[in-house]
Amino acid sequence: MISRRALARVTRNATARSLSTRASAILSALDIPTNQEVPGVYDGTWGGSGDLLESVCPTTGEASPQELQTSLEKSREAYEVIRSVPAPRRGELLRQIREALAAKRDDLGALVSLEMGKIRTEGVGEVQEFVDIADYAVGLSRMMNGRVVASERPGHSILEVPNPLGVVAVLSAFNFPVAVYGWNLALSLAAGNATIWKPSHSTPLCSVAVTKIVANVLEKNGLPGAVAGLVIGGREAGEAVVESTLVDMVSFTGSENVGRQVGKVVQSRFGKVLLELGGNNASIIMPDADLDLAVPAVFFGAVGTAGQRCTSTRRLYLHRDIASEFLARLQKFYATLKPGDPLDSSTLLGPVHTRAAVGVYSNAVDRLRKAGADILRGGVPYGKNHLTEGLQGGNWVQPTIAVPVDVNVKDVIWKTETFAPILTVGVFDKLEEAIAWNNGVPQGLSSSLWTRDIRNVGKWIGPAGSDCGIVNVNVGTSGAEIGAAFGGNKSTGWGRESGGDAWKQYVRWSACTLNFSDEAPLAQGVSFASPA
Ligand code: UN1
Repeated sequence: MISRRALARVTRNATARSLSTRASAILSALDIPTNQEVPGVYDGTWGGSGDLLESVCPTTGEASPQELQTSLEKSREAYEVIRSVPAPRRGELLRQIREALAAKRDDLGALVSLEMGKIRTEGVGEVQEFVDIADYAVGLSRMMNGRVVASERPGHSILEVPNPLGVVAVLSAFNFPVAVYGWNLALSLAAGNATIWKPSHSTPLCSVAVTKIVANVLEKNGLPGAVAGLVIGGREAGEAVVESTLVDMVSFTGSENVGRQVGKVVQSRFGKVLLELGGNNASIIMPDADLDLAVPAVFFGAVGTAGQRCTSTRRLYLHRDIASEFLARLQKFYATLKPGDPLDSSTLLGPVHTRAAVGVYSNAVDRLRKAGADILRGGVPYGKNHLTEGLQGGNWVQPTIAVPVDVNVKDVIWKTETFAPILTVGVFDKLEEAIAWNNGVPQGLSSSLWTRDIRNVGKWIGPAGSDCGIVNVNVGTSGAEIGAAFGGNKSTGWGRESGGDAWKQYVRWSACTLNFSDEAPLAQGVSFASPA
């Protein structure tokens, strides 16, 4: 059933019918019923008897506290099964999940587009990100190696052994309702853990669709579905998962404020926590940069996903010599933007996810105006006259370029992550100054330098360079590949997901000293001989 409120977000009228027909086709392709409530809890069987949750399309059942507890208990039982399945065999499960996802990539991408609001190519792109990390984890399942360490004692050997960790809870955000879970599930399953997913309450259908795909593979292989459980719910469900001692690691993606609470709660019970929090990402453009590449990259970084990636470009630091040319060229790109149906292949700008996000955008722009910033583009939500009929009930904001009077990274206008397409611009004379601005904010997720001069590159990626987790050169701040570890420093939370060494957090490490000699010497030459 397509709810009225749901459609109000996309459209209200004639187009509504065509959109709702498209929604039903996409949902049916993903085995989601369109004429009844959709259960939102999976722990081997589907259930969910808590409050009804409105999605942008059908209605979805939330978890009740008791169901949550049961699901967590089932996750623990499932962990005891999956930990003993050999890792390459777990890799084979991931290969099957990869195939099943790839087969549904376009439908799932379209659902992301419908429910989250990002444009179709980006929706499909994030499903591809899940496919890619599943590929990666298939290989990883044969390469999660420990080490043999030289022992100082004769006839001894020391092994560092990675073993499965337990139950990993994944709390994901609305903006990447598929990929971020994918990063976590792939590594967690390869490592031998059970995973329980608490997705954003505003993208429940994406999580139901993904869970169906994964559950199908698990069930076909005779494994408990709770190896990859799902609990849809609001804040209480999230809190209960975070507090539960049945959960060994909490991987949380979201705001710095909530992340701070999650970190404290998990730390206070000595659980493991992986935090993926705010990004306040800067691009720095040197005078020798190739502007033909840099301008479109900044345009994508700032406007792509309507500014709702953790990695979106929010700050632009331009060298004085090219500042006016750059801004003139960038504005030409902005001038081509038209709000449109995200499912339409010609659309570059979809809506922001919620009505509340429009308020966040407006407040941030007001703050910039009050601070005397020059608003070069945008600065207001789209009025009804800019919106074709079908879009008038949606959440539409004009991508904004603002040039404050100066750069003071301690000021709220520079130091806050605003999850909306607002690009704040400053002009510098020396690279060192721009690096200091880049590093001067609390967050440390992504950063990007545009230059052709190798000396600038060396500075940028070295000890006096960017302090972010992602430090790019002639590549924008967003759109990272899965192969490298993804994550940020400082108030971004220091977490690393996806590639690189990120898998090492999803295991418990044992240092095992083995004695195969006929003596039992103590280390460091300690003598503890008893006269007895
Ligand atoms: C996020 O915004 O939480 O690098 C994830 C990127 C994407 C992932 C973003 N690969 O922009």
